[in-house]
Amino acid sequence: MIVTIVGGQWGDEGKGKIIDHIAEKADVIARYSGGNNAGHTIENKLGKFALHLVPGGVGWEGTKNLIGSGTVIDPDVLIQELELINENNLPGKIFISEKAHMIMPYHIKLDQAEEAYRGSEAVGTTGRGIGPAYSDKISRNGIRIGDLKDIETLQSKISKNLNIKNKILKEIYNTDEISEKYIFEKIKVWNQKLSKYIANTEQILYENIEKNKFILLEGAQGALLDIDHGTYPYVTSSNSISGGSLTGLGLGAKDIDNVMGVFKAFTTRVGEGPFPTEIFGNDAETIREIAGEFGTTTGRPRRIGWFDAVAAKYSVNINGLDGMVITKLDILDKFEKIKICTHYEYEGEVLSYFPTDEKILNNIKPVYKEFEGWDESTFDVSSYEALNSKAKGFLKNLEDIVGIPIVYISTGPSREATIPIKKS
Ligand code: GDP
Ligand code: IMO
Ligand code: MG
Repeated sequence: MIVTIVGGQWGDEGKGKIIDHIAEKADVIARYSGGNNAGHTIENKLGKFALHLVPGGVGWEGTKNLIGSGTVIDPDVLIQELELINENNLPGKIFISEKAHMIMPYHIKLDQAEEAYRGSEAVGTTGRGIGPAYSDKISRNGIRIGDLKDIETLQSKISKNLNIKNKILKEIYNTDEISEKYIFEKIKVWNQKLSKYIANTEQILYENIEKNKFILLEGAQGALLDIDHGTYPYVTSSNSISGGSLTGLGLGAKDIDNVMGVFKAFTTRVGEGPFPTEIFGNDAETIREIAGEFGTTTGRPRRIGWFDAVAAKYSVNINGLDGMVITKLDILDKFEKIKICTHYEYEGEVLSYFPTDEKILNNIKPVYKEFEGWDESTFDVSSYEALNSKAKGFLKNLEDIVGIPIVYISTGPSREATIPIKKS
């Protein structure tokens, strides 16, 4: 059985927490896209961990955690993360695809220089080198983790790339060059520290499929940050939608049995770009403070908005979602009024689908259905029956408006604060 778990909104929906919960029963957990732009928080009896590259199954004994070919890896960050995992005795095993591309020091510098050059039109990237690393992959100048096995050939590839990258850094962006020696020193360390984790991850997947094991595919970012279907150009540089789990791991379309989309009971976004249901003022501040809505990777304050069902329905289509996971229900406790955006208005007309055009997206008016809040805590509630009737009503409406069932509800950051919904 293979289940893909994707972010349904603009990232940070609580994918890590849900994966950690479901991974108790999983044999293999595989990350398929993105890099250390992601920050997936898991919280269990071993502690609280912000994982950037390693899949969220690592907290469970007996799991195989694969970092797939569709990811981009900053080896320095991965080494640090592996050290943290070993120091804290997180028991899952880790395997890195030899096909995954590396984020090199020049990618990080280029990401930051490109953003500075964009000025007021900056994307608001995480500055981790994601875009430039994927660009090199697509233009066939990329360097893969498997290249670490042959240092001599790798050095020659790096020299060729660096020749051009340094010209761009110096002559176009007027910034410092990177020395070849600096990178050559690094690759020796990377080779030494990472080689034991490098594997043919596709083969591991195929063998586990053959044995009918439970496999979880872990998405990063969110559907609306997808390079093709997100709010371009304010997106990341990979396919974060469920389709990315096929190309990013070497699977076929028929392999996937179920796709779950993780959504917050409201919406957040980090970085620039359209956000139709964004709110400002007291409600936004309250949510940001109670929910701690600051980036797991960059610490930036997250932008806040109400649940956008138009965007959610779009997410259902581009991901082929079977079910929704609703997280952070507890954050809505104590609000007098809670809103769900059911459609948009644009130039006096009703718009019931998510538009592509940036100008339209920036000028649509969200139309809301309002719900009475509940003056009762849902924090850490772990059974559906124990939820108050107003919260249940809100969730039922979410299902009806979006049009797919809710399969899990999350009421707190811990593993246990999770309500699985069994549909008969
Ligand atoms: P991810 O990138 O989708 O894995 O999400 P992040 O880890 O970046 O952000 C989600 C944050 O919300 C983390 O700090 C989680 O510990 C926390 N979290 C997840 N689910 C819940 C929930 O149901 N309630 C509350 N209060 N916090 C949650
Ligand atoms: P997780 O997996 C939220 C956003 C950045 C920026 C845009 C492009 O934790 O949900 P990039 O560095 O990827 O080129 O930045 O994408 N972004 C995320 N926002 N959660 C994430 O990951 C994100 N990864 C990238 O803020 O707007
Ligand atoms: Mg995150």
